[in-house]
Amino acid sequence: DIPVADEPKSTANLMPDAQIVTAVRHWTDRLFSFRVTRPASLRFRSGEFVMIGLPGEGGKPILRAYSIASPSWDDELEFYSIKVPDGPLTSRLQHIRPGDQIILRPKPVGTLVLDALLPGKRLWFLATGTGLAPFASLMRDPETFERYEQVVMMHTCREAGELDYGRELVGSLRHDPLLSEMFGEGFAERLLYYPTTTREQGARMGRITDNLTSGKVFADLGLPPMNPAEDRAMVCGSLAFNVDVKAVLEGFGLAEGANSEPREFVVEKAFVGEGI
Ligand code: FAD
Ligand code: A2P
Repeated sequence: DIPVADEPKSTANLMPDAQIVTAVRHWTDRLFSFRVTRPASLRFRSGEFVMIGLPGEGGKPILRAYSIASPSWDDELEFYSIKVPDGPLTSRLQHIRPGDQIILRPKPVGTLVLDALLPGKRLWFLATGTGLAPFASLMRDPETFERYEQVVMMHTCREAGELDYGRELVGSLRHDPLLSEMFGEGFAERLLYYPTTTREQGARMGRITDNLTSGKVFADLGLPPMNPAEDRAMVCGSLAFNVDVKAVLEGFGLAEGANSEPREFVVEKAFVGEGI
């Protein structure tokens, strides 16, 4: 018998803005990442988000905001996703496989872009959960390291397994031949990584807010306390996290900026709601 390729599962090819899934990886029972083809016309700035989704009942697509986790130079798009058991989109999206189609509205927007910050010495990425996604894009963009001497990725999750996607990415970037060639052998020391857990024992623990206010992260990494002359930050987590981190950053003398008015830090919600 000649093997016959599976029929595409979705009917998205009948709709505009369909893209094809090229890879899927499951990290935990609540987290997965996937890659899709990139529309030739799509230009975006690393850190921005787009609307993606699947066709719903009656043909009306179910669309949700998703940060693009891949850098602007990549010829595919990567996403890092939660699986909400009864979520209208992710209860289905979590089952996609290579060859399937998703809908992607090619209108990127967002505040977590390099242009929204003033120049500085050090750039902090502060994320919980899937809030890592925009920074997975920015960490892979050489422009980030052209603009800042040091980049510090702080990522906090409840459990250790939820850190794996970020840990693997940072590990591979530190030894990325292209980045090392561009920035020299010392490149690995320019990308600092500070993962913590809060509910499962791990090598490093604690909330980002606590590790900043206590000064523990500065002591552990050998950095001066955050200050408006040198430090810039981007924040992406739940609403409660964003509100609390904003207050901490303001306590260090940093002010919030926007695309139209660059300052010392910018904030974006990783999702709407209380979290799961
Ligand atoms: P929804 O009905 O959308 O959500 C149900 C509930 O699940 C929410 O009320 C909330 O309590 C919880 N929830 C939703 N998303 C998350 C999450 N990411 N982490 C923890 N709890 C959550 N989601 C991603 O997985 N990856 C991304 O890169 C991403 N980027 C986003 C960027 C922006 C600007 C915004 C506003 C949201 C983003 N989201 C992201 C959330 C995403 O839009 C959807 O909410 C998510 O895919 C779940 O969709 P759903 O239809 O299954 O459930
Ligand atoms: P904690 O376990 O102490 O609540 P969630 O899954 O609830 O969105 O949380 C993801 C991670 O973010 C958890 O490690 C959680 O710590 C942390 N977190 C939640 N809310 C805040 C907040 N307001 N400030 C700092 N960290 C937070």
